Amino acid sequence: MWWKLAKKLFIKTYGCQMNVYDSTRMSDVLAPLGYAPTDQPDGADMIILNTCHIREKASEKVFSELGRLKQMKLEKAADGGRMILAVAGCVAQAEGDEILRRAPQVDLVFGPQTYHRLPELVSRTLRAEGSGGVLDIDFPLESKFDSLPEESVIQGASAFLSIQEGCDKFCTFCVVPYTRGAEFSRPAADIRAEARRLVAGGAREITLLGQNVNAYHGEAPSGVHAPTLPAAGSKGVWGLGRLLRYLAEIEGLERLRYTTSHPRDMDDELIAVHGDEPKVMPYLHLPVQSGADRILESMNRRHTADDYRRIVDRLRSVSPDIALSSDFIVGFPGERDEDFAETLRLVTDIGYAQAYSFKYSPRPGTPAAAIELQVEEAVKSDRLETLQNLLGAQQLAFNQTSVGQILPVLLEKAGRHAPQLSGRSPFMQSVFVEANPRLLGEVVAVRIGKAYARSLEGTVVTGSYSGLPAAAESAGKRAMSQVSGGPVMGTAV
Ligand code: 5AD
Ligand code: SF4
Repeated sequence: MWWKLAKKLFIKTYGCQMNVYDSTRMSDVLAPLGYAPTDQPDGADMIILNTCHIREKASEKVFSELGRLKQMKLEKAADGGRMILAVAGCVAQAEGDEILRRAPQVDLVFGPQTYHRLPELVSRTLRAEGSGGVLDIDFPLESKFDSLPEESVIQGASAFLSIQEGCDKFCTFCVVPYTRGAEFSRPAADIRAEARRLVAGGAREITLLGQNVNAYHGEAPSGVHAPTLPAAGSKGVWGLGRLLRYLAEIEGLERLRYTTSHPRDMDDELIAVHGDEPKVMPYLHLPVQSGADRILESMNRRHTADDYRRIVDRLRSVSPDIALSSDFIVGFPGERDEDFAETLRLVTDIGYAQAYSFKYSPRPGTPAAAIELQVEEAVKSDRLETLQNLLGAQQLAFNQTSVGQILPVLLEKAGRHAPQLSGRSPFMQSVFVEANPRLLGEVVAVRIGKAYARSLEGTVVTGSYSGLPAAAESAGKRAMSQVSGGPVMGTAV
């Protein structure tokens, strides 16, 4: 029986959603070799740490995890087994040689652009036992997407799809242009084919991924005329706005999201899509990093705080209820109290539904790490606390506006305590409801009863959807067009 023969593959994923996507694709590549995913590292035949290099802490975690896994590998060997220990992702790309030197228990190191070569890498690793680890951190000319097999891992109701990789922006704090390489966009037809397969596998929502996703400039499908050419656009090249419209045509696909975006690439077509394509969710993660122009300049962001405010105004003029999210860095080299005050002012002006904020972490080889005016750790901590308090208060206030509303929620997984299920509102809020597990994978109407700092709680609304409370209307009728049909709902909870 094949499942008794299957080798166990454990992948631990760190960092961003691109890594989550890559991990599922690594499983796909390894499936024909007999590796089946497991959710426990114990006794695994292969363990891959898919790593993140964005901040120092993220890298450190990898080395401490490798220490723990060494023991597990030795135990497996003592039982006569063999475990392949592999490090993938951005730490692998940036510190490949160093990993093999510092952690000789590692058998294989490969970067984000070479995992389509895993079958060959695994067989080289098996041959190379005892003669040092195998390293592949090339930026190959061939695109891995052309060599990857069709997806076999079912991602569930909410799926990720990588459409663009790499970054040419070179923000001075960021390692991504070095670890992920130059910008590359997949052809629109390939993306649509993958999206269709995800939908056939049960996905109702797809999040398009890219390090700089709205810089997307992919080849248009042959024979399809682009009514509006993208800002980037020579003929035959589509921007993200056009791609979203194309994907929105897929039947059975209910929701589209994309992440992560750069303010400079929010072009007219993309903004317009937020106004008139109901499947594009009213939520946008648009990192600004700082509210001070001199810091933005030193970060090489190539926009001002007011440029960002204007983009948000334009988004809100087409989609008034859009929920905004951002990333912030505090304590960037040279950041003074008055610069930080500008960040607080921008946050107050915009009003975020949620956000991520980090202390600046110098990354080796990036220009900002060489700036002399590094900010003291204690100052960074103070600023981070102040900013997080403000952002936390905004998030709670935003969540509280949902109380009493009926929101369409895509139920994705079991909640912490049965019979609780959890899902997402159109605005990306986590929503917990007590509901029949048969509703997993469905978009259901939920009356929001309570708001917390990071989540909402509600009850599934059964019966007809006509005559929704006025509050639901303000949450966007567009969003309600999401809710699944009556019969499913009639038997809910
Ligand atoms: N230090 C702190 N935060 C960083 N980020 C990227 N590089 C650094 C760094 N060197 C943050 C940015 C980015 C997010 C993914 O991580 O805010 O948008
Ligand atoms: Fe890094 Fe994003 Fe800047 Fe690119 S745009 S360098 S990924 S922060």
